[in-house]
Amino acid sequence: MAFDIDMIKAVYSSMGEKIDAARKVVGKPLTLSEKILYSHLHAEEQPLENFVRAKSYVNFAPDRVAMQDATAQMALLQFMQAGKKQAAVPSTVHCDHLILAKEGAKEDLQNSISASGEVFNFLESVSNKYGIGFWKPGAGIIHQVVLENYAFPGGMMIGTDSHTVNAGGLGMVAVGVGGADAVDVMAGMPWELKFPKLIGVKLTGQLSGWASAKDVILKVAGILTVKGGTGAIVEYFGEGAKSLSCTGKGTICNMGAEIGATTSTFGYDEKMEEYLRGTGRDEVADLANGIKEHLTGDEEVYANPEKYFDQVIEINLSELEPHINGPFTPDRATPLSKFAEEVKKNDWPATLEVGLIGSCTNSSYEDITRSASIAKQATDKNLKAKAEFTITPGSEMVRYTVDRDGYLETFDKMGGVVLANACGPCIGQWARHTNDPTRKNSIITSFNRNFAKRNDGNPNTHAFVASPEIVTAFAIAGDLTFNPMTDTLTNENGEQVKLDEPQGIQFPPKGFDVEDSGYKAPAADGSSIDIEVAPDSKRLQLLEPFKPWDGKNLTGMKLLIKAKGKCTTDHISMAGPWLRFRGHLDNIADNTLTGAINFFNDQADSVKNQLTGEYGPVPATQRAYKAESIPTIVVGDHNYGEGSSREHAAMQPRHLGVKVILVKSFARIHETNLKKQGMLGLTFANENDYDKILEDDTIDIIDLDQFAPDKPLTLVLKHADGTEDTIIANHTYNEQQIGWFKAGSALNLIKEKEKQ
Ligand code: F3S
Repeated sequence: MAFDIDMIKAVYSSMGEKIDAARKVVGKPLTLSEKILYSHLHAEEQPLENFVRAKSYVNFAPDRVAMQDATAQMALLQFMQAGKKQAAVPSTVHCDHLILAKEGAKEDLQNSISASGEVFNFLESVSNKYGIGFWKPGAGIIHQVVLENYAFPGGMMIGTDSHTVNAGGLGMVAVGVGGADAVDVMAGMPWELKFPKLIGVKLTGQLSGWASAKDVILKVAGILTVKGGTGAIVEYFGEGAKSLSCTGKGTICNMGAEIGATTSTFGYDEKMEEYLRGTGRDEVADLANGIKEHLTGDEEVYANPEKYFDQVIEINLSELEPHINGPFTPDRATPLSKFAEEVKKNDWPATLEVGLIGSCTNSSYEDITRSASIAKQATDKNLKAKAEFTITPGSEMVRYTVDRDGYLETFDKMGGVVLANACGPCIGQWARHTNDPTRKNSIITSFNRNFAKRNDGNPNTHAFVASPEIVTAFAIAGDLTFNPMTDTLTNENGEQVKLDEPQGIQFPPKGFDVEDSGYKAPAADGSSIDIEVAPDSKRLQLLEPFKPWDGKNLTGMKLLIKAKGKCTTDHISMAGPWLRFRGHLDNIADNTLTGAINFFNDQADSVKNQLTGEYGPVPATQRAYKAESIPTIVVGDHNYGEGSSREHAAMQPRHLGVKVILVKSFARIHETNLKKQGMLGLTFANENDYDKILEDDTIDIIDLDQFAPDKPLTLVLKHADGTEDTIIANHTYNEQQIGWFKAGSALNLIKEKEKQ
């Protein structure tokens, strides 16, 4: 048994009391999100009557930690430095990101194990030593495995992956964080989060036909945009919410990451109970039933949501149309009925080259059966799939069960290729077969993200996101102007045939099954286990602590890059082939900011070296400044660092000697990551000052020696023509975070405390 029932019992035993006490203090009914937050406050005294949403930093005590292989390397390298014997809370590692999709599940898995064996072995032995559960390569994708095994209603967890939020489908507050946050929690330290705003989404009606849970979040993304959920928990409620399957709720919460939400969640209901029982967790379901009233929002909150949420959205599921979002951003939402028109109007490539289903977002039994009901029609109606088609199961349990029940055979008949139970094409681990990568082309996935180059590293690929059943229908048609709800297709006999609506089954009639789930429990006492990292390893490197701040103002900083427009963590630290260096800070630093567009020449990875006047790659230019001990600054636009939670995007610039990131606004996780790594993350007090930053600027911060909470900093921009501009930068550092900055990193502080 992988889940920790004693921990759940402990959480539930005090939950009601804590919620009642909080309700009394704040003097109003509570949303579910607030109940979970208030019942997970860290032990020390905190004045909850003073908590201000989107402003107050609050210390929490999450129940669990989950880490995926790409981020776990750095998290565990950091945890090893903290001097602890065991992880303080139940924690797991999942090997899913480092598996390259090329030929098919078996071969790809074997090849990836030989290519990344050193890393998998490292993760396994560190897990074994520190009491961390280990899910080996091929066991499944972190979020699906968490939903099937660990998520529980009313719980709080953090995970080193932005789609950790998927566990909201089982009524958790589950938040994606950087590895440094995971280290805090595993070290028994409080986990700090800005008290979130609350967005309520009231769902009425019931889904039918082609519409699915995926379409709820595709529509919400269109309404709220990629920034709309920033700093907020999205809480779904209403009769419509109760009608959605638990895994459907997971899909909705999963893509809450695409609107920047801290997390999303649903109240405990019968669908969750069924899912817990269906996945072998009767004990958890019984416990949850015992405290039901605490696992959902108070009645009054849902009766008058405008009074209690910062924003309320209402969606009638009965009227919801399937949506297709993209290309290049997940919030460009188009209803199916308008999509063909948009494709033509925008000159998007209408020929669909590949349809990909599965991933952590959409690989439940229900998803697979709904897609298979479409795939089966291809065979039954003599249709030949025009596009390539791949299936990525989310876990070995789902794969084994759908294989046993004949669904993989259905896909096989349609020409589908089953990939390993891993991230694969979703994270750019995809050796895509194409005869011309310079051709503008379209793919459609049931994944969550579709930034340029995300799936296949090709900027010419237009990636769209839709439900698995819509993806399957498009793959059969091979044409993005096809509307499966209204159009017919010509089959092999020249007949016109129409696809029937998808049919799905939430739970396997014969129950879930698996031969080898891929789980490995840790040693009861790991103290004698040695962790070895070869000094000449290209994949792993033990960490050196970052240097503490010298207490002086920062002067003489050269502008490294002024990034223009979108600068996600993929632009700052690309994934794809670079994933292999996630455990080696110096090697991966060679991709730092290579995807960011230089404001001054509109090019990626080409910046002016102020010492030579020549243009060169960003990492090489930064290393040249570092060699001369010259500090540097990076300037960025809005929502800098959106996307994944990888702290590499903060550690790499820090390792290379960048001192300050100054932007119009930050994505939440990235801002915290910068703080944890002892970097200075600032925002323009006046956004228009972005325009004052010139290519040859040298920049001073003249009052850093008085660095204090709520006190803006003053920057002097010295331009090449001898003129100067003085601008103001804001920051959100509190006392504790200033302590991290001073110590050089949050980890340096933990270590200091451990020694005391
Ligand atoms: Fe993996 Fe993609 Fe999910 S990278 S964790 S399948 S978002």
